[in-house]
Amino acid sequence: MSSLLQPSRRSAAVSPFIAMDVMAEAGILERAGRAIAHMEVGQPGAPAPRLVREAAKRALEDGRIGYTEALGMMSLRERIARHYADHYGIGVPVERVVVTTGSSGAFILAFLAMFDPGARVAISAPGYPAYRNTLAALGLEPVDIETHAAGGWVLTPEAVEMAHRDAPLAGVLAMSPANPSGTMMDRTQLEALAKTCRRLGIWFISDEIYHGLAYEKKEVSALAVDDNAVIINSFSKYYCMTGWRVGWMILPEILVRPIERLAQSLYISVPKLSQIAAEAAFDATEELEIIKAGYAKNRALLLKELPRIGITELLPCDGAFYAYADISRFTNDSMGFCKRLLEEQGIAGAPGPDFDPVRGHKFMRLSFAGTYDDCLKTVEGLERFLKG
Ligand SMILES: Cc1ncc(COP(=O)(O)O)c(C=O)c1O
Repeated sequence: MSSLLQPSRRSAAVSPFIAMDVMAEAGILERAGRAIAHMEVGQPGAPAPRLVREAAKRALEDGRIGYTEALGMMSLRERIARHYADHYGIGVPVERVVVTTGSSGAFILAFLAMFDPGARVAISAPGYPAYRNTLAALGLEPVDIETHAAGGWVLTPEAVEMAHRDAPLAGVLAMSPANPSGTMMDRTQLEALAKTCRRLGIWFISDEIYHGLAYEKKEVSALAVDDNAVIINSFSKYYCMTGWRVGWMILPEILVRPIERLAQSLYISVPKLSQIAAEAAFDATEELEIIKAGYAKNRALLLKELPRIGITELLPCDGAFYAYADISRFTNDSMGFCKRLLEEQGIAGAPGPDFDPVRGHKFMRLSFAGTYDDCLKTVEGLERFLKG
């Protein structure tokens, strides 16, 4: 191949996901016989619920798995609409429900449907790294807005207004509960942010992928405060279906047809087998609540033990399955810290620069979506590590 051929500049704008690199490194150590506590990846340790797997088995035995409508199987869209009535008390017309390939697929469709090239879109720092990468890959400009203790570690209307004054924003993407912190926005905070977006005439996108995983208070959907908000959700986290790649959106009516056209051409339809399986997930609450109780136990352990061993600065860990810790008392280089922690104690954690390019060197994220035993080993190993 000619050496003149080069990957695109837009692909160069996509940075690697360091937590995945840590996972690969942990895998190498594991294959060499080391025991590793997996605290690096944000995915449930449990398999998909039994009802989900049974539905998929039946569908496989029935035989034909064909394309579905680009917007998703009507029965699944109806079931998602019913979930809004049951869980939030919000009526959602089925026409505004769209099934997607995970929330990751939803972001691509939504960004393409809402924004023209070069548009500035505000995201929070710390935040989920794929937002920045997806926006950059699509020729959009991610605008990091730092969150702080004074603002409750969430995006505030004042910070959004300030960024908009620098140069106009086209949209704001908020998440609650958040990754990497688990911090949640209450109804007042969500309402204020949505109102600001409306006043500024910019899109408001709410990533609600960690809904269902709140420990102290009930999560609020942005749909409850703004019927025009773009809601993005997924079966990956609460429903334990990461590998099935199904998510959904609730869209304002004006975006439905543009998104349908994009989906038709970009991937035709979400895998039908996964859609059939996902429909059964809404009936698996009993099993899922047991899994959630396991996360709650892990969380309680970390919230009690981390401060005891000197990790006292944690962002509010209201939901999701993460503890995001300020470790600046111990290091100014969280990448090196995590590398040594893995090598010396067999604990795999995610260094902060994934989530916050500016302040991340002082932070580390621990995911407690795995086993209690791994959380226990993490506390013990960290204690040895910090003393040593
Ligand atoms: C905040 C957030 N949004 C979206 C995703 C993507 O999830 P999926 O594409 O599996 O739905 C993740 C995955 O970790 C996440 O943490």
